[in-house]
Amino acid sequence: MRLHDSPTLLAGVIGWPVAHSRSPKLHGAWLARYGINGEYRLLPVAPAALPAALRTLPAQGFVGANLTIPHKEAALALCDVLHPTALRAKAVNTLEFASGKIIGSNTDGIGFIANLRAHGVDPARGPALILGAGGAARAIGAALQDAGAAITFCNRTPDRAIALAKDFPPANVLPWEQRETALKDFALLVNTTSLGMAHQPPLTMSLENASPDLAVSDIVYVPLQTSLLVEAVARGLKPVEGLGMLLHQAVPGFRAWFGVQPEVDAELYRIVAADLL
Ligand code: ATR
Repeated sequence: MRLHDSPTLLAGVIGWPVAHSRSPKLHGAWLARYGINGEYRLLPVAPAALPAALRTLPAQGFVGANLTIPHKEAALALCDVLHPTALRAKAVNTLEFASGKIIGSNTDGIGFIANLRAHGVDPARGPALILGAGGAARAIGAALQDAGAAITFCNRTPDRAIALAKDFPPANVLPWEQRETALKDFALLVNTTSLGMAHQPPLTMSLENASPDLAVSDIVYVPLQTSLLVEAVARGLKPVEGLGMLLHQAVPGFRAWFGVQPEVDAELYRIVAADLL
């Protein structure tokens, strides 16, 4: 090995299945842009194999990894150090392997807030109505509350929203049936459900009662312009599309693994969006 040669830095996304992940496209574009000797791989790992995979990846040259379905919650018990973002979200989506330790964090909330700001939307502009009560609602609710917003969870299954709100006092709960009529009291609407995603049922959510300064955010990014966002635009409301959150949530991992603060810009958006078609 010549003196200036350094080993290829490896990272990847661990999931089961994982072939659909857009993360290799995204990190690959940044690795090429910044001329980094690194690779970002797809890592198909079945649930039962996750503990062994996390033990062996560092020895294979991996500096870290992302976690996706179904590993985000299981990984909590496998990390040596958990960042407060992972504890609040009760899920891990980013791992760093450093000094023999597995460090877990959750960048979904950071990505959501960064995407709002990139669209000129202040997360603390007023009360936020969060549709859904799954893992995405938890991460986004925590991030919005940390940013200073009052949050309300609204979910088809009320018990899940009630349980979630208990973890984030003084969060409120709104019955699913009241999501349209109550909209006038909110400054931000966030869809964290799978409704409106390709091959899923549509989201029934009229924006007729929205206040004129409502910002409307959808974490669904296939299609890029969901019917919720299309209606927001038609009514002159501020739309915040979901692909931006995917791009922004990847920033902290890339910086930790490869030592460069990567930029989310229109070119990156184009590259990843082209891959969705
Ligand atoms: P994630 O962890 O990705 O957020 P999840 O835990 O499966 O995913 O949550 C999916 C969300 O979409 C839930 O809030 C779910 O509502 P329920 O808790 O009532 O299941 C919501 N969702 C899925 N299908 C729905 C439907 N047809 N109508 C209303 N909400 C739906």
